[in-house]
Amino acid sequence: MKNVLVINASPNQHGSQSRLMTERFVRLWMQHNPADTFTFRELGNADIPHVNQQWVKSAFTPDEARSAGEKQAIALSDALVKELQNADVIVLGSPMHNLSVPSTLKAYIDQIIRMSITTTLVPGTPNSPYVGLLENKKAYLLLVRGGYGFGKGEIYEHMDFQEPYLKAVLQMLGVTDVTSVKMNHTAMSEEQRSRSYHQAHAQIDALFN
Ligand SMILES: Cc1cc2nc3c(=O)[nH]c(=O)nc-3n(C[C@H](O)[C@H](O)[C@H](O)COP(=O)(O)O)c2cc1C
Repeated sequence: MKNVLVINASPNQHGSQSRLMTERFVRLWMQHNPADTFTFRELGNADIPHVNQQWVKSAFTPDEARSAGEKQAIALSDALVKELQNADVIVLGSPMHNLSVPSTLKAYIDQIIRMSITTTLVPGTPNSPYVGLLENKKAYLLLVRGGYGFGKGEIYEHMDFQEPYLKAVLQMLGVTDVTSVKMNHTAMSEEQRSRSYHQAHAQIDALFN
């Protein structure tokens, strides 16, 4: 039995294409794996605090030496890390915002990257100085963009700080088994959006065939 952590980063509750993608994914996963459990993490409409000085001090202080205020400053981070550690599968639905990810998702990432807990720094390691501490997890990235042209060899490939960034973060955490489905054109004509919708949703369906 697996635990699937479903993370939604779109600020839109209605008409959100990334939420339609996570919903389809969850529906299919339930059909194929009825015994599995789900945990839902809302980011798009949640107040995930930014890392501040007390957070940093707390993160680098052993638990037994933390003041009450420092414990409080790191409590949400501890809970989010535990939630992530308990997941076998991570499903992230996210729009592109200003070439990257929504700031709520960035705030979440800053909360769950914890030295010696979810990652370690080993300078000189090939490809990345980070060695992740999360093991045996599979991630699905369900990504949407208002525009297009961010794919390999395409006109704006150099401006995609969404998918490469998320993959690098997952690698920092030790999650290297990553599958992406991308939907483009969400802010373009109805015809373009509809074509991209059907392509992306067919790709999600194909994950379960
Ligand atoms: C603040 C903001 C910034 C955005 N920046 C980009 C961008 O840089 N590139 C792009 O292709 N689309 C951009 N978009 C469009 C969104 O990616 C698109 O509308 C997406 O479908 C929103 O996700 P959702 O449908 O899941 O709500 C942006 C939208 C917003 C609100």
